[in-house]
Amino acid sequence: MTTPKDATAARQAPRSYRIASIPADGIGPEVIAAGLQALEVLARRDGGFTFEVAEFDWGSERYKSTGALMPEDGREQIKDFDAIFFGAVGAPDVPDHVTLWGLRLPICQGFDQYANVRPTKILPGITSPLAGVGPGDLDWVIVRENSEGEYSGNGGRAHQGMPEEVGTEVSIFTRTGVTRIMRYAFELARSRPRKLLTVVTKSNAQRFGMVMWDEIAAEVAKDFPDVTWDKMLVDAMTVRMVKDPKSLDTIVATNLHADILSDLAGALAGSLGVAPTGNIDPERRYPSMFEPIHGSAFDITGKGIANPVATFWTASQMLDHLGEPAAATRLMRAVEKVCADGILTPDVDGTATTQEVTDAVCEAIRSENI
Ligand SMILES: NC(=O)c1ccc[n+]([C@@H]2O[C@H](COP(=O)([O-])OP(=O)(O)OC[C@H]3O[C@@H](n4cnc5c(N)ncnc54)[C@H](O)[C@@H]3O)[C@@H](O)[C@H]2O)c1
Repeated sequence: MTTPKDATAARQAPRSYRIASIPADGIGPEVIAAGLQALEVLARRDGGFTFEVAEFDWGSERYKSTGALMPEDGREQIKDFDAIFFGAVGAPDVPDHVTLWGLRLPICQGFDQYANVRPTKILPGITSPLAGVGPGDLDWVIVRENSEGEYSGNGGRAHQGMPEEVGTEVSIFTRTGVTRIMRYAFELARSRPRKLLTVVTKSNAQRFGMVMWDEIAAEVAKDFPDVTWDKMLVDAMTVRMVKDPKSLDTIVATNLHADILSDLAGALAGSLGVAPTGNIDPERRYPSMFEPIHGSAFDITGKGIANPVATFWTASQMLDHLGEPAAATRLMRAVEKVCADGILTPDVDGTATTQEVTDAVCEAIRSENI
């Protein structure tokens, strides 16, 4: 029998989240360490939740010594965690398709994290390369289909090295896959103040999968009469992102299109170093995975100047997903304050190190009066 005392104790017990941390390669370990430091300070500040973090040494070094980036039962090892916090994968001496297909994609696809959610906005204190465009003028969320399309893994090579060699890379679009990502994108657009969605396509040149993509968008739209939506060819979309960023809000695109457009979005918001992403399983059958968009950044690895903002932002996405929206907002408030104060890494025209930005964000969390 539960006594009133037990009930009070249960109410007061901090919520505990198990996080699988996979820092992996290049600047991954540097930015994940920064993210974990900020999460720890947030948990202490909040008092209502705690983290239990388990680190996994999966990545290119493991590949070089054992022949595999992650163990065969890797997904089994992390499937019961509440979330995955991921750095970056890729090494100069391992082919990129080996690293991507050896770690990140098996997790995303194996856990059916079909919605890849990529918010972008210009943070205060950060200058966009677009003239006359500042905070408030560019505030987007790109929803990337994350389970099929151009990255379905369907294809092959024949007659390798011969003059008649053939390589195929077949895009797969399924009604189930397209419908669920469209529904996710319309829902997300509906939850944002402008209720505005742009569906990116290439149905002029690609007349099968992409035409089905367009048709399903129109079908799903009927269930969202309050969402205004339009359709853009991906090539024209790059122009619109540069020329008229204010006209966009929520964007949905295929795996490949959104991969490219979100790097452009990051650059237009100031740097890849501020662009986050959440690989979400909306049905919550598996843990979702949170990571900065950027890769291993070989050119700055070990220099202590990687921008940790993308990782803080994705940590904020993770907190939201875990059901801690107040802490998620607190973290972003701290990041915005630190950026506005001009404590910035060199990629966004500052002189601060990763550690200085991280310490400033932690201090902003601790000293906030709200
Ligand atoms: N999700 C991932 O794990 C992922 C994503 C993209 C690339 N990669 C891999 O990373 C490796 C390098 O790829 P790339 O050079 O095309 O892309 P990249 O994102 O690693 O770097 C591109 C440029 O952006 C800069 N940059 C990136 N993140 C930064 C940060 N936090 N702070 C400051 N500057 C930052 C880099 O210094 C570099 O000049 C490759 O092996 C690639 O396959 C992995």
